Amino acid sequence: MPLRSPSLSRLLALALASLAISCGAPPPPEAPPAPPAPSAPRPPSELRDAASFTSIAEPSERSRALFLEASRVMLHARCVNCHPTDDIPRQREAHELHNPPVLRGDDDKGIPGLRCISCHQETNLELARVPGTPDWHLAPKSMPWLGKAPGTICNQIKDPKRNGGKTLAQIVDHAAHDKLVAWGWAPGSGREPAPGNQERFAGLMAAWVETGAACPPEEASR
Ligand code: HEC
Ligand code: HEC
Repeated sequence: MPLRSPSLSRLLALALASLAISCGAPPPPEAPPAPPAPSAPRPPSELRDAASFTSIAEPSERSRALFLEASRVMLHARCVNCHPTDDIPRQREAHELHNPPVLRGDDDKGIPGLRCISCHQETNLELARVPGTPDWHLAPKSMPWLGKAPGTICNQIKDPKRNGGKTLAQIVDHAAHDKLVAWGWAPGSGREPAPGNQERFAGLMAAWVETGAACPPEEASR
């Protein structure tokens, strides 16, 4: 198997070097870092910043590319778990049914007697594995992302009827400062954080709006 990851090969080189030292032999020459293969899959944790899209001259084309990049965050488990679909078979297929079983309730905050915040506190409870931020609750039914194509999510986010009545500026502000969004990068208990960081994500969203908030084509979702 070819070693694609430079950090892995560096680790290996280090291990070899320490082995060589303990045997008293000279360390092997440092291998040159392997150039990234053009078609190598990107690590899921990676997120490009808005500046890396300036080479796309045509604004709407750049806008679509920026949104596609930002959608790598939105479609991450840390986000879709709170932006689920009510299509239970699809939800089950994605292994994202809430355990213990809970209900959304009329206000997206649970049902009387079993509110989200009965368990979800203002911070992560590391040992109990319960994630937390102030006012933990589900995104409204109008904002389902799980299993949707980026273009579908894009049109939803732009639609004030389905985005909580937000302007595009308020969407960017939400992306940059909302506490529930921020949790995606500090999920606790060994959960995988969303790609990149919140600042980079918000930068992509801001650049998407500045370039005209164009949407990728709305392909059929899975
Ligand atoms: C009885 C306690 C309890 C209640 C009530 C509860 N949760 Fe949870 N929730 C948990 C626990 C425990 C976990 C962690 C499960 C794990 O990771 O093993 C969790 C995990 C989650 C996650 C997954 C986070 C992630 O990305 O890994 C989401 C989203 C979530 N809860 C939303 C809600 C919402 C919304 C409500 C209210 C409708 C709610 N929960 C009510 C106990 C509860
Ligand atoms: C604990 C649940 C929760 C988590 C986790 C969560 N969200 Fe949300 N999200 C919400 C709620 C609730 C709203 C509605 C807020 C409102 O209308 O003011 C929302 C709304 C949004 C909106 C507003 C626009 C729209 O129409 O969708 C964006 C953008 C957003 N979330 C992004 C994210 C991203 C990105 C992540 C992951 C990094 C994330 N959210 C994780 C609960 C969550």
